Amino acid sequence: MNVLVIGSGGREHAVVKKLKESPRCGKIWCAPGNGGIAADAECVAIGAMDIEGVVRFAKENPVDLVFVAPDDPLGAGMVDALEAAGIRAFGPRKNAAIIEASKVFSKDLMKKYGIPTAAYETFDDPAKAVAYIEENNKFPIVVKADGLALGKGVLIAEDLAAAKEAVKTIMEDKAFGASGNRVVVEEFMTGPEVTVLSFADGKTVVPMVSSMDHKRALDGDKGLNTGGMGTVSPNPHYTEAVAKVCMETIFLPTIRAMQAEGRPFAGCLYFGLMLTPDGPKVVEYNCRFGDPETQVVLPRLETDFLDVIDACIDGTLDTLDIRWKKDAAACVILASGGYPGSYKKGLPISGLDENGGAAGVTVYHAGTKLENGQYLTNGGRVLGLTATAETLAEALEKAYKAAENITFEGAHYRRDIGARALAAN
Ligand code: AMP
Ligand code: GLY
Repeated sequence: MNVLVIGSGGREHAVVKKLKESPRCGKIWCAPGNGGIAADAECVAIGAMDIEGVVRFAKENPVDLVFVAPDDPLGAGMVDALEAAGIRAFGPRKNAAIIEASKVFSKDLMKKYGIPTAAYETFDDPAKAVAYIEENNKFPIVVKADGLALGKGVLIAEDLAAAKEAVKTIMEDKAFGASGNRVVVEEFMTGPEVTVLSFADGKTVVPMVSSMDHKRALDGDKGLNTGGMGTVSPNPHYTEAVAKVCMETIFLPTIRAMQAEGRPFAGCLYFGLMLTPDGPKVVEYNCRFGDPETQVVLPRLETDFLDVIDACIDGTLDTLDIRWKKDAAACVILASGGYPGSYKKGLPISGLDENGGAAGVTVYHAGTKLENGQYLTNGGRVLGLTATAETLAEALEKAYKAAENITFEGAHYRRDIGARALAAN
């Protein structure tokens, strides 16, 4: 089976490397890919949002399957366009991708079907949002832009002044563009966060092994929110008892709700959960694999990835036995100096071998390019240094060893990835 993977980050590199393990996998292309992905797949210069370009390439080449990894093309209907052209595609259609693309949609879905989540109200008028916040008078309070905002559209306000500022930033200054035409104002929840990615085929949902993201830029969960600075799997807070509650109150009800709404979800459904004192609640849904959660979850998948993908597309997940490795996994992100703010690009990376790898770890390239045999930085998150081992402590040790050896000017990484998980173990 020849596969075209859409996207250019560390997640896509992990998808490509996992596909390569499948004895059923033939040629792999990646559009647009990056410097490191080029060692594992043929990169083609088509942007991830170029729906027409992707459909054309898939028609003109012997592509058997297109794996659409990022949220933007899913939200824009890339899978619908591929299917309309008779091309097999992995990922939700546009009418199901809305579960991530609109927070108003996902919150209303949870309310309608009794799925536990933070109490909330939605507004399209900033004055009404502020009036509600004043009346509610509980802080902190969370203000979220309705639409996609590169993971930055969530503002946590400690007091009324900050909440007013948040509403202004999103709805009037339009910091996230049209994504801020509507806002969700919701209750602040507390408790450990857990990511559970799941495979879905429209009617069956199969959770993958759990993981823990580290979203803030600096040690001790300080600094700005980022796309994710590191991950570990499994997440020790996600016990078997918690998993059972999540299955019954969140995973199954969500997949059934989407089916009942005439929006069957097929692909990877991402559950961002908070284990609150009142039980597990949904923080957010994503319509795709997480980045960098994928980098610690997919390496643990034992079953042939292509078999699972086929089952998601063909609606046969209920007949498949999906197996996982017992090993723990850790991923440490090496980021550009300044990220998630502005940063330099084009800096030479040292410590990688000629294939962009390093001994003892799997290096997933996120923001790199290859020029004259030299890997250069080309994004905010540059590399994901990933290791698996019998214990999380050993996996972290291996990943951090690589983080010491691989470097570039201004490189930074968190030193405490997995520290909380180790303490909770
Ligand atoms: P999101 O983009 O919705 O995942 O939000 C980003 C981060 O903001 C989450 O990972 C949480 O840490 C935090 N967050 C979002 N919503 C809430 C909430 N209602 N209560 C507390 N923290 C939240
Ligand atoms: N790591 C969080 C996300 O992929 O949205």
